[in-house]
Amino acid sequence: MSLGLRIRSLGFFLLLNLVPCQCEITVYHVNNQAPFTTTSVPAAEYSGVEAYNPSTLIPPPIPTPAIVTTIPVQLQNNGTPKLSITQSGAFMGFSIEMSVTNQIFGKNSTLLQVPFLNLMANLQQRAGSVRIRVGGNTQETAKLVDELPDNRVLQKNLTAVFGPTSTPPLDYTRELLYMMGNISSLVNVRWFLGIPWFVTQPFDLAIIPAAEEILGDYLMGLQVANEPDLYVQHQHRNSSYGPYDYYGEMSDFLTQLAASGLDVTGRAKQLLVAPNIAASVWTPEQVWNTGFVDTYSDNLAFLSMERYVESNCGAMIHDGEAILDPQTEFPKFLTHDTPVNLMQPYLNSTMYAQAKGKRLLMMETNNAACGGMLGVSNVFGAALWGLDHALQMAHSNFSGAMFHTAPPTAQSTFLQWSIGPLYYSALAMAEAMGPSNLTQVLDLGIQSPFTPIYGLYEDGVPVRVAAINYVDDPTGASDITTVISVSGGTVPAQVKVKYLAAASVSQQGNYTWAGQTLGGFFESDGRLTGAEDIQTVQCDTSAQTCSVRIPAPGFALIFLTDTVYSESETASTLTFPTTVRTQTKNTVTVNPSVLATSNGNVAALNGIGSTSPGELNAGRSLQAPMVLSVLFSAIAMGAALLMK
Ligand SMILES: *[C@@H]1O[C@H](CO)[C@@H](O)[C@H](O)[C@H]1NC(C)=O
Ligand SMILES: *[C@@H]1O[C@H](CO)[C@@H](O)[C@H](O)[C@H]1NC(C)=O
Ligand SMILES: *[C@@H]1O[C@H](CO)[C@@H](O)[C@H](O)[C@H]1NC(C)=O
Ligand SMILES: *[C@@H]1O[C@H](CO)[C@@H](O)[C@H](O)[C@H]1NC(C)=O
Ligand SMILES: *[C@@H]1O[C@H](CO)[C@@H](O)[C@H](O)[C@H]1NC(C)=O
Ligand SMILES: *[C@@H]1O[C@H](CO)[C@@H](O)[C@H](O)[C@H]1NC(C)=O
Repeated sequence: MSLGLRIRSLGFFLLLNLVPCQCEITVYHVNNQAPFTTTSVPAAEYSGVEAYNPSTLIPPPIPTPAIVTTIPVQLQNNGTPKLSITQSGAFMGFSIEMSVTNQIFGKNSTLLQVPFLNLMANLQQRAGSVRIRVGGNTQETAKLVDELPDNRVLQKNLTAVFGPTSTPPLDYTRELLYMMGNISSLVNVRWFLGIPWFVTQPFDLAIIPAAEEILGDYLMGLQVANEPDLYVQHQHRNSSYGPYDYYGEMSDFLTQLAASGLDVTGRAKQLLVAPNIAASVWTPEQVWNTGFVDTYSDNLAFLSMERYVESNCGAMIHDGEAILDPQTEFPKFLTHDTPVNLMQPYLNSTMYAQAKGKRLLMMETNNAACGGMLGVSNVFGAALWGLDHALQMAHSNFSGAMFHTAPPTAQSTFLQWSIGPLYYSALAMAEAMGPSNLTQVLDLGIQSPFTPIYGLYEDGVPVRVAAINYVDDPTGASDITTVISVSGGTVPAQVKVKYLAAASVSQQGNYTWAGQTLGGFFESDGRLTGAEDIQTVQCDTSAQTCSVRIPAPGFALIFLTDTVYSESETASTLTFPTTVRTQTKNTVTVNPSVLATSNGNVAALNGIGSTSPGELNAGRSLQAPMVLSVLFSAIAMGAALLMK
């Protein structure tokens, strides 16, 4: 097999690992025809893009003493204390580094990435909408220009790389926003953008009228600085810069915006999202204590934080930080303690936000900054961790979290997309929250850190249970059984269960959600394939218990009522008649009416076609308002330039 062939592909969602690894690796065939454990070669022989490095780590040992495998889950029909605030089905969204939007969204407003649209449609179908933040380090110097060479929508200025993350200044055109607008006209994606904040005298306000005009109501918020508490460390402010200076800049910004006349509708000044701190230099309280939230209450659509569990920047960009050993780190992402501990510095702030009538977002998060960790971020374990992290943030009264994504670099073309584990977390999370906007989350406080279980409530009534088993035990001896009972109510005769499944926490690709998959490396056009597999578990109505097994490893979403189950099955009725027509090899022309029923699921949102290699000549479809197709991506970039 040729590794060279395999790297000619565009990755998607958190397959980003550029860590050198000394371990043995399992080699996939091209296009993953023989998915697992085909050959082992030393990782040193792998020279492709690290996101597709097939190295796997050794799962942590089975815990000793053995975990408790029969777990009583005693729910209360009403009056359960400490439920979270109500949560949206779109709780788990994505943060996409601005500099890579042209690889993920499309080439321009008429050439959108079909796999991307399908991936978003899958989520919309379950949650009603999807939230995407476009930004990151690259938002800070992004400059709106009239045009770029070769009709590009964005271009990095590689002669002016700055900062420890080697971020290049970015030029972009209105086409980027049109592209986003056109995405939203097809799938209900809602956007956060960032205002460049390095230069404050004057601020570059150009993105504001453009975003307002083009995105309209699809614009959810405008970020005010990205991690301003790291500005001193990254040499963007002098050493005395602190929370009060940031407070002052906000005032300068609002004054300049008002004087500019650029906020024509008056809406932009009410859409600000702040303070977006990493909380590694300033505490949230230091910002709150400036009076920031009261002073700017009318301007703040959301309060916000950014936080990773680890930083892998030492390995990735050699910024002097310690280089992490993935094998040592792996167990940290297979325990409930990590999501719980990460929330501790924010629990006061989520209560503070409630007191101020604001919602707090996690604008950027993931397991490891600077592109993740090989063998940790790109495996099934990361899907379990992602769900636990998202559920724990919801339980902790955050109102949403964007998982940061940046695709791998230096590729010349691609065949198909590779769907990373966190996309599966997002699918399961969308169904765990559902489309009602009423879901409340409660960590049920199960003793073992290997088997977290959450109750999900609507109007105070338990409607779903979400359970994770982090243990990797192929013998089945560590499978758990949740024994659900409902005080003040009765258990139903039967419950429906959907599993997120894989053979091991170190499996790469081919995970299944309710039996369906997006395949292995480079196999996906964004549509789930395979027959949907929903388990029906009979409850013991005399004992008043429902016993549901969760394999080790695995995740189960247990639907306690038919109503919530069918919500998640028929969340959307939106359809759009888009036909794809390209003239390159391996490209399909899709009849939307066929696709509408092809997914083993209900809604007909999947009327979007497939990917193809090479340059394309897109012809305008007769039936569709626009041609959706795949683009040829020929952007070569230094790896570190893309990363968080
Ligand atoms: C979330 O907010 C609710 C409502 O204010 C509160 O009862 C609950 O204790 C909070 N949860 C956490 C983990 O702080
Ligand atoms: C998008 O790119 C395609 C292919 O280069 C081109 O034919 C089309 O005109 C472009 N659309 C816009 C709006 O620039
Ligand atoms: C790139 O950055 C350099 C240095 O800041 C600047 O002189 C140049 O004008 C920039 N080029 C473009 C195309 O923006
Ligand atoms: C879609 O893109 C075109 C330019 O190709 C633009 O004129 C139109 O306004 C866009 N639609 C939306 C909804 O943004
Ligand atoms: C919680 O935050 C508020 C507002 O910043 C602060 O006044 C208070 O001291 C904090 N409480 C704790 C326990 O940190
Ligand atoms: C949930 O909230 C969103 C955003 O406010 C809204 O668009 C949607 O209609 C709501 N869904 C329901 C079922 O109320």
